[in-house]
Amino acid sequence: MAPGAREASRLDEAVKPGLPLSSSDASEEVSSRWVRRRSAVRSYFEERAENWVQITSDAPLSGIRRTVREGRGQMRDALAAWLLGETLEGDVTVLDAGCGPGELSLQLAAAGARVTGVDLSRALIEAGELRAREAGLTDRVTLHTGDMLDPPGGPWQRVVAMDSFLYYDEDEASEGVARLASLAREQMIFTVAPRTFLLGAMHRLGSLFPRRDRAPGIQPIRVESFLGRVLDDPRMAGWEAGRQFSVRSGFYFSHAVELLRGRG
Ligand SMILES: C[S@@+](CC[C@H](N)C(=O)[O-])C[C@H]1O[C@@H](n2cnc3c(N)ncnc32)[C@H](O)[C@@H]1O
Repeated sequence: MAPGAREASRLDEAVKPGLPLSSSDASEEVSSRWVRRRSAVRSYFEERAENWVQITSDAPLSGIRRTVREGRGQMRDALAAWLLGETLEGDVTVLDAGCGPGELSLQLAAAGARVTGVDLSRALIEAGELRAREAGLTDRVTLHTGDMLDPPGGPWQRVVAMDSFLYYDEDEASEGVARLASLAREQMIFTVAPRTFLLGAMHRLGSLFPRRDRAPGIQPIRVESFLGRVLDDPRMAGWEAGRQFSVRSGFYFSHAVELLRGRG
């Protein structure tokens, strides 16, 4: 076996989630698609970990990448405000699902939250651990390599998935949201790439590039119908829609949705 293939299969072992998700045929079909997609996403982020570490740092960036960083900053600040609320009294526990190199995890921990982060990419997790040590936040942040649908520990008060579902289609993402919501006691926040005319055009343009040059395709999602579908899932009984927020900055498009578990 080639060294790259050996590494990939070793990582597959490391991130094997507790799928299938349910016993229905449809759900098993979605879970096997999830596993295939996850494999492409992991390879992509492992190979480009350095780019992601750079984009999530203060290192100078030019052009499009700078607009992406600015848009991501707006989104991260909005999500942090929703997660921390006005009442950060005592410890709030947060799962940062698909945490990358931990930018949001560290922002939340610096504000007092206790955060568990999970990501497929070992390289990004290692970068996040280094950042946590440098920031003196290792007592408040724990990062793990693995599938975000099967994190160690929990439940958490709040679960967030910032841009972690971008590469999954509506079937896969709605399954993922239901799974993550089962780990959240109060609040679940996720972002998707909203299907807009402009993003659709960019998506079509992107598919003209040779496959080897492409990120795993971003899957634009129709937010309103997706949200209806998510809330119709019987596993989401007791959950209701909260706030929504959209950011568009250069090539960065992201739409956040908050779900709240009812108290009744
Ligand atoms: C666009 S990056 C966003 C990273 C981070 N949430 C942020 O906003 O800075 C998407 C991340 O989701 C992670 N990811 C995607 N699918 C995942 C899965 N099934 N389990 C864990 N991480 C996943 C990728 O490895 C990648 O780091």
